Amino acid sequence: MPDGQPSTEEAQEFYEFALSIYEQVKNILEQNNVIIQGKSIKLRLIEIKDAEFILSLRLDSNLNKHLSSVNNDLNAQIDWIKKYKEREIEKEEYYFIIESLSGEPYGTVRLYDFRDNSFCWGSWIIKPNSPSIVSIQSTLLVYQFAFYTLHFKKSHFDVRKENLKVIDFHKRMGGKIVSEDELNYYFEYLKEDYEKAREKYKKFL
Ligand SMILES: CC(C)(COP(=O)(O)OP(=O)(O)OC[C@H]1O[C@@H](n2cnc3c(N)ncnc32)[C@H](O)[C@@H]1OP(=O)(O)O)[C@@H](O)C(=O)NCCC(=O)NCCS
Repeated sequence: MPDGQPSTEEAQEFYEFALSIYEQVKNILEQNNVIIQGKSIKLRLIEIKDAEFILSLRLDSNLNKHLSSVNNDLNAQIDWIKKYKEREIEKEEYYFIIESLSGEPYGTVRLYDFRDNSFCWGSWIIKPNSPSIVSIQSTLLVYQFAFYTLHFKKSHFDVRKENLKVIDFHKRMGGKIVSEDELNYYFEYLKEDYEKAREKYKKFL
């Protein structure tokens, strides 16, 4: 412990140090508080404790046919989430658990690859026997957050050509296929498309 009163410089230095810690903690708390709430579900940011649930979805052979594969390795999943959390703090990516208002997990969805005015979304998985409203409501919440909170003007995303159900889903929402390759269709979705869909599906919000 230093003797006596701190000098003005020391007091100022300490004040600035305390302020910087306060700002960092505030940022982390605000970041972790992102919760997007709909009528019957909410999206909340993933945490390390969700690793097992996420892995179980991604290893489910009924759900992972059209997704990139992951290893059955819980520690690798935990490490992946830790690295993701750094991108989340930088506001580069948002990975959500889709869950009921009382916290029953239904699935996941992720916003990433942020470009000037466009964002990509994916890692969209909903476990079987979830209420049928979950797919539409989670999609509307993703768009609401991206267009109105993050202020993007459009979305880009790809869907495997064999994933016919999901291709139909995006088309019904107003999504347009703008290009393709052997494996994927590439969609574009404008804020105006969302505004029309939101009107059409307002009972889901
Ligand atoms: C993609 C996925 C998240 C969609 O969720 P889902 O619950 O299967 O979504 P569905 O398209 O079956 O829609 C759920 C219900 O809403 C209905 N619905 C979907 N879109 C609708 C629309 N535009 N208007 C009215 N009803 C609609 C469906 O008919 C279905 O009703 P039902 O339960 O009575 O059959 C889910 O199938 C999944 O996890 N798939 C595996 C992973 C995957 O392929 N992800 C996408 C990668 S691009």
